[in-house]
Amino acid sequence: MAFRSQFLGCGGYLPERIITNAELAQTIDTSDEWIVQRTGISERHVAAPGELTSDLATAAARRALTAAKVDASEIDMIILATATPDNTFPATAARVQHNLGITRGAAFDVQAVCTGFIYALATADNFIKAGQVKTALVIGAETFSRILDWKDRGTCVLFGDGAGAAVLRAVPSNGSTSERGTLSTHLHTDGSNYDILYADGGISTGKSGFVRMEGKEVFKHAVTRLAEVVDEALTANGLHASDIDWLVPHQANRRIIDSMGKKLGLPKEKVVLTIDRHANTSAASVPLALAEAAGDGRIQPGQLVLLEAMGAGLTWGAALVRW
Ligand code: UT7
Repeated sequence: MAFRSQFLGCGGYLPERIITNAELAQTIDTSDEWIVQRTGISERHVAAPGELTSDLATAAARRALTAAKVDASEIDMIILATATPDNTFPATAARVQHNLGITRGAAFDVQAVCTGFIYALATADNFIKAGQVKTALVIGAETFSRILDWKDRGTCVLFGDGAGAAVLRAVPSNGSTSERGTLSTHLHTDGSNYDILYADGGISTGKSGFVRMEGKEVFKHAVTRLAEVVDEALTANGLHASDIDWLVPHQANRRIIDSMGKKLGLPKEKVVLTIDRHANTSAASVPLALAEAAGDGRIQPGQLVLLEAMGAGLTWGAALVRW
């Protein structure tokens, strides 16, 4: 029998502490006006001292399980996307699994930075299609505040902490695009631009690193690559931009999101935006936006949802989901 993965429920979690643009402007040479105009960001959440990526991930996962009406004991696989794990090893997913009281199945991390959730979703979807997993928990969780150079105004104003999660279940499929579930996922990497967005350190280098970015270069690649992968996803399913009910994009820059919405001819109300309040939460941004729009009833069963993201690597990807 053929299967596809259906989203049963989503959940998001943001740490309590909020840092506004005005607060940042007290310590670095920036302004609320510049940040809002150039990025669309007004504020971001930042984890408390001692609050770890696994804590955010666990809280989001609990909310997703509640929304899905699924007990933790039913989870066969946990895939956690993060570039900011608790420890070098084990995988942060193992700690989340333990926090949720699960002792069976598999739990592992994937690392594709801002595209991480799309990578995790694609991995879970393929395990489900292969018939090896019935119920999966897919999480994007980050504490980017820990790898920011708070003196670099070109990067520190852009990111925030948070986590988002989704519960997926195998459902029988006849392959039709009108059937509920994940229709397709599309992943890409091109390492030739490794150095335009990276952390300038890591375990193997012997020093811990901070985020470094050539913003303008990344911006150019984002606009091109996202347009390509969105076309690829629609073509693969014989669908058109006019079929899309909701765009749930990675929240890196309001101008990138607006250009994608315009390219697809989507009215602003059909684009899920969280960047003003969350900033860029890397792997958490897509599932946080999804949790918000599914949770408040904007996204309805049967609607076509387009997820897309682009990040360091460079990595980029998209998924089409019939909700
Ligand atoms: O999630 C992964 C994907 N990431 C992205 O997609 C991010 C893509 N890049 C961007 O979003 C934008 O390039 C930024 C928001 C990072 C920067 O916007 P920009 O319009 O490309 O500005 P810029 O870097 O070219 O900087 C313009 C000016 C510079 O001053 P000069 O050289 O013109 O005097 C910067 O020094 O703005 C200055 N600047 C700032 N001014 C006030 C840079 N950061 C700030 C700041 N506050 N925080």
